[in-house]
Amino acid sequence: MFFLAIETSCDETSLALGRFVEEQSQVSFWSKINSVEIVAALTSSQVPQHMIFGGVVPEVGARLHADNIHWLFENLLSAAAVRLGLTPKDLLSRIITIFVTAEVGLVSALRVGVEFAKSLSYFLEKQTGRPVRWQPVNHLEGHLFSCFYQQNLLTDAQTGVIYSVNQTLTELSDDALFPHLHLLVSGGNTQILWLTSPNRWTIVGRTIDDAAGECFDKIGRMVGLPYPGGVWLSKISGTQEANLLDFPLSMKQVESFDLSYSGLKTAVRYFLQKTKVPGFRLEQTLTKLELETLRLPLEQISEPKLQLIKQVCISAQTVIVEQLVRQFGRAVAYWQPRSIGLSGGVSANLLLRQKMQNFKPKTVLIAHPKLTGDNAIMIGLAGCRLVNSHCNR
Ligand code: KG4
Repeated sequence: MFFLAIETSCDETSLALGRFVEEQSQVSFWSKINSVEIVAALTSSQVPQHMIFGGVVPEVGARLHADNIHWLFENLLSAAAVRLGLTPKDLLSRIITIFVTAEVGLVSALRVGVEFAKSLSYFLEKQTGRPVRWQPVNHLEGHLFSCFYQQNLLTDAQTGVIYSVNQTLTELSDDALFPHLHLLVSGGNTQILWLTSPNRWTIVGRTIDDAAGECFDKIGRMVGLPYPGGVWLSKISGTQEANLLDFPLSMKQVESFDLSYSGLKTAVRYFLQKTKVPGFRLEQTLTKLELETLRLPLEQISEPKLQLIKQVCISAQTVIVEQLVRQFGRAVAYWQPRSIGLSGGVSANLLLRQKMQNFKPKTVLIAHPKLTGDNAIMIGLAGCRLVNSHCNR
């Protein structure tokens, strides 16, 4: 059974075409999700267009989704048809479900994906004479379930098409996976979730102000990094762990598993406003050469301004990751889960990924690097999970 998945919640227009096995009510959640085959997935990123403004402009984003979704769909269909040895028309007529991100995101951007899904389902129903349903999917559920998909994902170097290479994985029964404790860290959300089954969860910790990704981005902007700051800040800091500038670690005294990032953000801003380092100006965009230099080890950087920026990046990343790991670690000790997971855009961060592995011997499930940012594959996976799951939501 073929499905199409659509993601347009923020600044990536992403589509995935996959295959799943229906009527699998007896199999484990692990087998069900890992039997999904991603035939082809394509993403068109709007980052270059939003970079000019230093962040996402919702109206620009929605227009770009509307401009891009049709040609992206045509390219996806052609690529998937070639892989399957079918014609695009034949493949189109085999799609039985369209999963689309319908909530949590920019309203005007989400609307483009949902309207596309509705129109396509109407058109396919008329063409094939059978129901082609469109199923709304929650964006955060997409992130959450991405960590359970442990199949390998490859990218065709020429076309940019991503596809899965399914292999037989060691079976993990529902009892081995659940209860599961999850750290979801994205640009707009930072949550610790407690899942007693694939269909039941509660949020046991969350940021009380900024999300971790937002904090990365805002600090990145302060020191002049391009948008999205988190990506650049992490490239510059690597896996070096040191709070060189003694930035504050929030929520040390709290009993809860909540997180907070506004204190760090403000501390960095005050520090940078007061600094007397020659040549440094708050939010002054760095040149390409300066960005390249910042990727050198700290001791090889001689310019005071770049030394300062490098120190800010390393210290900020250290504190952001430390707070995530500290609160999550406390939650692990308290809840004693059978498995733990990490997902969301910030889960691309190498230091964070490394630190999560230290929670062994628990089963540690970390989202595949190709599934960390916004993508339609995760929407397809979360959607497939809903099929026949008798989901009690
Ligand atoms: O999940 P995502 O693509 O979008 C949302 O659903 O919000 O997350 C985007 C966020 C941005 O804040 C970006 O700076 C951050 O993820 N990000 C990173 C890294 N890669 C992306 N933050 C830290 N380290 C990274 N390697």
